[in-house]
Amino acid sequence: MRGIIHAAGVGSLENISEMKQSSLDCVLKPKVRGAWLLHQLTQTRELDFFVLFSSAASVWGAKQLGHYAAANQFLDTLALYRHSIKLPALSINWGSFTERGMVSSTEATF
Ligand SMILES: NC(=O)c1ccc[n+]([C@@H]2O[C@H](COP(=O)([O-])OP(=O)(O)OC[C@H]3O[C@@H](n4cnc5c(N)ncnc54)[C@H](OP(=O)(O)O)[C@@H]3O)[C@@H](O)[C@H]2O)c1
Repeated sequence: MRGIIHAAGVGSLENISEMKQSSLDCVLKPKVRGAWLLHQLTQTRELDFFVLFSSAASVWGAKQLGHYAAANQFLDTLALYRHSIKLPALSINWGSFTERGMVSSTEATF
């Protein structure tokens, strides 16, 4: 194995004031727990790449996507952390995919 692409994620539209713990967990888990486990399980391997699918929501926020923005901010921070310990990482802050995917299906407003 020469590298990892972490693209898992879950999206839902909710106001922070009405957000339930279960909803927060659902959105954080695949990104925070998933990416951290991949980091931990592979940090002794010599990888060429470790790519994380983050979002523009992490950079400037998004209406009703506070949980999703936080999950993606973790990915960005994990990439910085990996750089600090001399491991490869690239966190991509994608904008909306036009045809398919979670953001177009939930009609998020950035
Ligand atoms: N769509 C966009 O406009 C957009 C914009 C910016 C960033 N992104 C990011 O790009 C990535 C792909 O987005 P997408 O729109 O292609 O999403 P998608 O079609 O909804 O696909 C997300 C994938 O994540 C998997 N997944 C969810 N929870 C998981 C878990 N706990 N363990 C393992 N796999 C899990 C899903 O698997 P199952 O189908 O088996 O549930 C699904 O295959 C995501 O990380 C997303 O945040 C997307």
